[in-house]
Amino acid sequence: METKIGNSIREAADWLRQNEVIAIPTETVYGLAGNALSEEAVVKIFKAKNRPFFNPLIIHTHSREGIASFVKNIPAEAHIIAEQFSPGPVTFLLEKKDHVPDLVTGGHHKVAVRIPNHPLTLSLLNMIDFPLAAPSANRFGYVSPTTANHVMEGLTGLIPYILDGGPCVVGVESTIVDFEDNEVIIRRKGGISVELIEKALGKAVIIRTHASDHPVAPGQLKSHYATITPLHTGNKLELLRKFNGKKIALIEFGDPLNEACYKRFNLSPSGDPDEAARNLFSLMRQADHCGADVIVTSLLPEEGLGAAVNDRLKRAEHLNKQDGYTG
Ligand code: TXA
Ligand code: MG
Repeated sequence: METKIGNSIREAADWLRQNEVIAIPTETVYGLAGNALSEEAVVKIFKAKNRPFFNPLIIHTHSREGIASFVKNIPAEAHIIAEQFSPGPVTFLLEKKDHVPDLVTGGHHKVAVRIPNHPLTLSLLNMIDFPLAAPSANRFGYVSPTTANHVMEGLTGLIPYILDGGPCVVGVESTIVDFEDNEVIIRRKGGISVELIEKALGKAVIIRTHASDHPVAPGQLKSHYATITPLHTGNKLELLRKFNGKKIALIEFGDPLNEACYKRFNLSPSGDPDEAARNLFSLMRQADHCGADVIVTSLLPEEGLGAAVNDRLKRAEHLNKQDGYTG
C-alpha cells in the first residue's frame, strides 16, 4: 500500500468512510484513526499498530454532545473539566453506552473519550458522521509521533493517508481522568497538568498511574514510549562517568552541563516545561537515531507538564531494562 501525506480533509474523510485507517494530527500527538463504530476499521487500527487487543482506544469526537452520545452519564466534575479544557488534551473515562463496541474498550465497561483541539481534525470530525477511535500513531511500544514524518517512519506502507497538520503543539498525550465514588482519579499524566485540574475543581484529585505489565484498568502498560537505544535517567554527571568510553547522547533541560559527550540535545534551554513537552518525543527519536550507544537524561522538576515528561522518560527507561525487547 502506498502511504500519502497531504492536508485534504476531504481525502481523509473518503478513506475513513471506506473503513480504512489514516493518521490524523491532534494537539498532543498524531493519532491512528478509524471509524470507532466499525469493528472492521478498529481491527485495522490494532493490526497496523501491532497493539494487543486488550489495550483499549480513545474515542475522538467534535463536541460535548458527541461525548454525551457514547456515555451513560457525565458526573458534575467531568462537566467542570470539559468546560475549561475541552477541546483540549484531556480524556474522560466514563460508563459506556451499549452501542460502543467492546473492541474499542477492551471489554471494559468504561470508554475513553476526548475532543481534540486541532483545526484540521475538528473539521474532519464535523465532516464525517461517526467518531474516530485513535491511539497514538506509532508502532506499539515506540515513541509517539509529533510530526507527519514521524508517522511515516513507523507506518509507511501500512496506511493509505497521513493528514499533515504540522508539528503537535502540546507534544505529550492527553491527561486521562476517571471518576469513581465522587473522586476524580488521574490515570495518565498528560497535556493538562494535575495542578490545573485541581484548580478547576477546587479540590484534590487522586493520582493512580502506577505502571504495570498487567493493568487492571488498562492504559498503564510500562512498555511505552521506549527508544531502541537504552535510555537512563538520573544525575547527568554520574551517568556520564558511569558510561565513560561509550558514545553518549545527552538530553538536557535548562543550562547545559560543561562536559564533553558524543551528541547533545536540549528539551528547553530556558527551562520551560511546556517547551520540553513539545520537544520531548522528537528529541527522543533524534537521540535514538544519532548513532549513540546510550541516552542519558535527568528528570525535570515534577511540576506542570514536567510531571508528564518525567512519566514518559521513566517508562522509556523501564522498557530498556527488560530482556529481549526488540522494539
Ligand atoms: O493524546 C492522546 O490521548 C492521543 C491522541 C492521539 O488523542 N491518544 C493516545 O492514545 O494517547 P493511546 O491509545 O496511545 O493511549 C490511550 C490510553 C491507553 O493507555 C489506553 O489503555 C487508555 O488510554 N484507555 C483507553 N480506553 C480505556 C478504557 N476504556 N479504560 C481504561 N483505559 C483506557
Ligand atoms: Mg500511545
